[in-house]
Amino acid sequence: MCGIFGYVGASADLGTVVLSALKTLEYRGYDSWGVAIGEGDGIQVEKSTGKIGGATADLPPSTIGFGHTRWATHGGVTWENAHPHVDPSGRVAIIHNGIVDNFRSLRDGLEAQGHVFSSETDSEVIAHLLGEEIGQGADLTTAVSRTFARLDGLNAVIAMRPDSGELVAAKNVSPLVVGYGPAGMTIASDALALGPHAERVMYLEDNHLVRLSAEGIDVYDRGGMTELPAEFVPIDLGTADAGIGDYPTFMAKEMAEQPEVVERLARTAGDAIDALAREIDAASETFLVGCGTASYAAQTGAYLLGQIAGKRVTVVAGSEFQYLQHLLSPRSLVVALSQSGETADIIEAMLAARKRGARLGALVNAKNSTLDRMVDVRVHLMAGPEQCVLSTKAYTAKVTALLLVAHAINGQRAAGERAALTAAAGLRTLLGSPDWTANVARIATAFHRAPHLFVIGRGVNYPTALEAALKIKEVSYIHAEGFAGGELKHGVIALIEEGTPCLVYAPNDETRTDVLSGAMELRSRGGFIIGVGSQPDAVFDEYIPVPDAGVAQPIVNGLPAQLLGYHAALQLGHDPDKPRNLAKSVTVK
Ligand code: F6R
Repeated sequence: MCGIFGYVGASADLGTVVLSALKTLEYRGYDSWGVAIGEGDGIQVEKSTGKIGGATADLPPSTIGFGHTRWATHGGVTWENAHPHVDPSGRVAIIHNGIVDNFRSLRDGLEAQGHVFSSETDSEVIAHLLGEEIGQGADLTTAVSRTFARLDGLNAVIAMRPDSGELVAAKNVSPLVVGYGPAGMTIASDALALGPHAERVMYLEDNHLVRLSAEGIDVYDRGGMTELPAEFVPIDLGTADAGIGDYPTFMAKEMAEQPEVVERLARTAGDAIDALAREIDAASETFLVGCGTASYAAQTGAYLLGQIAGKRVTVVAGSEFQYLQHLLSPRSLVVALSQSGETADIIEAMLAARKRGARLGALVNAKNSTLDRMVDVRVHLMAGPEQCVLSTKAYTAKVTALLLVAHAINGQRAAGERAALTAAAGLRTLLGSPDWTANVARIATAFHRAPHLFVIGRGVNYPTALEAALKIKEVSYIHAEGFAGGELKHGVIALIEEGTPCLVYAPNDETRTDVLSGAMELRSRGGFIIGVGSQPDAVFDEYIPVPDAGVAQPIVNGLPAQLLGYHAALQLGHDPDKPRNLAKSVTVK
């Protein structure tokens, strides 16, 4: 997490330039922000806790500067812990994304030498180590090379030295992209932030160390510090509109985009879907890995692949994969599901899989992300930038892609596409109906003060229930849990009291009768039943009708929970785009 952006080139109002780049990167963390610019040989810093909002930085024009938007890992959300951090001599400043796993021993060593720290962060040790190197006569490139080699963990660091007009950066797994444009060189954790400045970009590899100045770029292999060619490609931010348009929030916009996202995949992803289907067919076993929402999409995929294509796949949460990696062989296939393509747990899982010789696949939204660049076969989700911290359209795209892959394995690609298009039409009807959306908002009003909410589903809609609960709890902060419909009575039913809201997925399939009996059991104990399905039932206290999309029902069924969570959040006064404690693109472990 944490967004970082740096600039060196023609003199500019860098307070404004950096803050506007940080705004683009704020989805990576919004606990605090900070900007530092070179002023003569010195460094001027402005920082603040909280979201950037309409902040301005009152800084003079400069030729060099950088900024950071923080998701706190080490140390609370305070002004002192906000980046950038400056070394005690005031000559060098750093911004950092990641976690320095060995920061405690590095800090102890520095303190023993007399260093005094002004923050609780792991990051500040980097500034002090660089200051030590520079104090002993090293240039910034050498100082960063030596210091970065001492850091354990997944890190991206940019160091700035105004007296020599340089930014020097290195990374391990955490992403960094360099931009080359008419005004100068830029660097950021996401190419999105380089859009206004760069015509060409270079995605840094883990062995790279780069030195940026007004004259251009030097690239080194940080192992032996030999020079490497700089390999730039034209910047590709996709054609989708990244702006908020007329929508009140990005979440509203991204929910509304779901019909077109599903349609686009169904109509244009055929070749990529076929390629992944062939890989799954050829593999001795397939693992699907994802985190959070992506893991629920993967679990949905496991049902779809099992039921439609007769393929058994194993779903593993990204962070748990390391404990099962010994099961892999060169005939295994590991498919990662990721919107950002930068989730640290996913990248680590894929690195481990690569070491074992497995084939690597991905369902990924962010083109050119670390995941996208490392796999053998990929399906681009083509959902456009997802800027709300909650995943909505990317989830729906992942489920759609897996539905298409399941049909393709079975030699029924056209049937898969038809099913997806039916679901897209269903979503469009729902989103286009003011009565339907008002009904969902009204139901959210009924439960938004409840302390707990339970969601049940069976079969392919069991993972839908897990995802529904996640969506509701992360945006509204109401404690919500999803369960397989048959499991509730094995303990959890003890939590049901008079009025406890229970969201019940009751589709027109083989699960309906059993799900409705479960709903009856909940109601008998006071549960307030909100049914989701294409037919009402007497057990429902409230009913959210959805069209029958057959085998593609999970594509439709995400929307009611997204909207319920959204409206509950609005009524509780929460910002749906930036829920507390969260960040998009979880680049730390
Ligand atoms: C929930 C949410 C997260 C992400 C998860 C994986 O709404 O957004 O659970 O799905 O952090 O992110 P990606 O897909 O970028 O790997």
